[in-house]
Amino acid sequence: MYLGNGGRRFSHQLALPLYCKHENESHHSRGPDASLNIDLVRKEIPVTSRRAYFDNAGTGPPSISVLNAIHEYLADWRDYGENWEEWLPLIIDSRRLFGKMIGVELEEVASVPNVSSALTALASSIKYKPNGNIVISELNFPTNIYLWHLQKKHGRTNEVRLLRKDQNGVVPLDEWEKAIDDDTSIVSVDYVSWMNGCREKIREIAKIAHEHDAFVIADSFHGLGVFPINAKQDGVDALACGMYKWMQGPHGAAYLYTHRERLGELDPNYIGWHGVEDSVVRRLSKQEDLFGKPFNIDDAEPAVDATRFEGGSWGVVSIVGAKAALEYVLKQDQQERHHRVLRVTDRLIDGLKKKGRRILTPLQSERRSGIVVFEDQDPQATFNKLKSLNITVASRVKAIRVSPHYYNTEEEIDKLLAAL
Ligand SMILES: Cc1ncc(COP(=O)(O)O)c(C=O)c1O
Repeated sequence: MYLGNGGRRFSHQLALPLYCKHENESHHSRGPDASLNIDLVRKEIPVTSRRAYFDNAGTGPPSISVLNAIHEYLADWRDYGENWEEWLPLIIDSRRLFGKMIGVELEEVASVPNVSSALTALASSIKYKPNGNIVISELNFPTNIYLWHLQKKHGRTNEVRLLRKDQNGVVPLDEWEKAIDDDTSIVSVDYVSWMNGCREKIREIAKIAHEHDAFVIADSFHGLGVFPINAKQDGVDALACGMYKWMQGPHGAAYLYTHRERLGELDPNYIGWHGVEDSVVRRLSKQEDLFGKPFNIDDAEPAVDATRFEGGSWGVVSIVGAKAALEYVLKQDQQERHHRVLRVTDRLIDGLKKKGRRILTPLQSERRSGIVVFEDQDPQATFNKLKSLNITVASRVKAIRVSPHYYNTEEEIDKLLAAL
């Protein structure tokens, strides 16, 4: 069993704290069930005092607690240099917190640098059916497409079935049903499309895939932090998620969940010193000296748990921030965050319709997410104009992508609409 270390903090003080908390005001003290006090939340997210920030699908802005955690780590590194005894428990804790976020166990979670490497880890590990196929959607993020074409090039799969969206921006469920068959090795799908914000029917897709004994991979980058996710209930076999968007953590930290019943069949074609059964983390968990005995260089076994996907050293500075981000989000009610996202995006959609803007995001309620995309003839000019008014959106191909979060207000949406 892992030791973990929820409460331990670095043992020294910073010379200069980055930000001060609003003492006695924090909504955190009221626990996850209390309703969110958005004025206080906004004080904890510094960007809100500078601009109307609507690019959470690009990079989420950090809270003060994330900034301070990173700052503390930097001071620790400055003052002590190597400090694995303190850092390794933080890595274990961050995995545990991610597991809590998606309703899975610590042993099912690996800490990886980014979503692309999580998907690559899976692609290198899965048993492909002979002469099989892989089913994906064009709404997936490019990594979740490139990777599967590469498997075809390397001869691991016969075919890649790339489903196309219809005129409403959706890949209907019956298209998945038609494409998935007994030869399907893998179905890989994004919870929410980066491109048009379409939310996929993950549970239904996973059910169809499992009827054909296919392995289901889901990328929840635009889902986690926006709406509650339970990977077990959703029935996915593996889930990858980064921290730098809706979770408002730093770049360089992501997590890979794999269902414990499927772990045994996953055999990565790489291995590193943190991915073996007798790793330094495992030694720490057993309260052994980290470097007190030689490593087995003759026949080291991959870790029995999901850490087999972890190769070399972690970006501790990122993980420290990710841990603080997870703690921050876990203190809030996920359903309430979701309702707030829907409320602000509803207002945006209504306003865009009134202005006669063509919305490219599917608008059926079950397809909605935090992303709203609309057509724009000169997105770069629109982006620049909005930027000059301290409004941040993302410019895309002939379109503007707006991705408000739970901390945005209806007044900010009105400001954006007025500027358009
Ligand atoms: C859905 C989705 N998955 C993956 C990525 C890329 O993730 P990473 O940079 O962590 O590999 C992105 C980036 O925007 C994304 O939108």
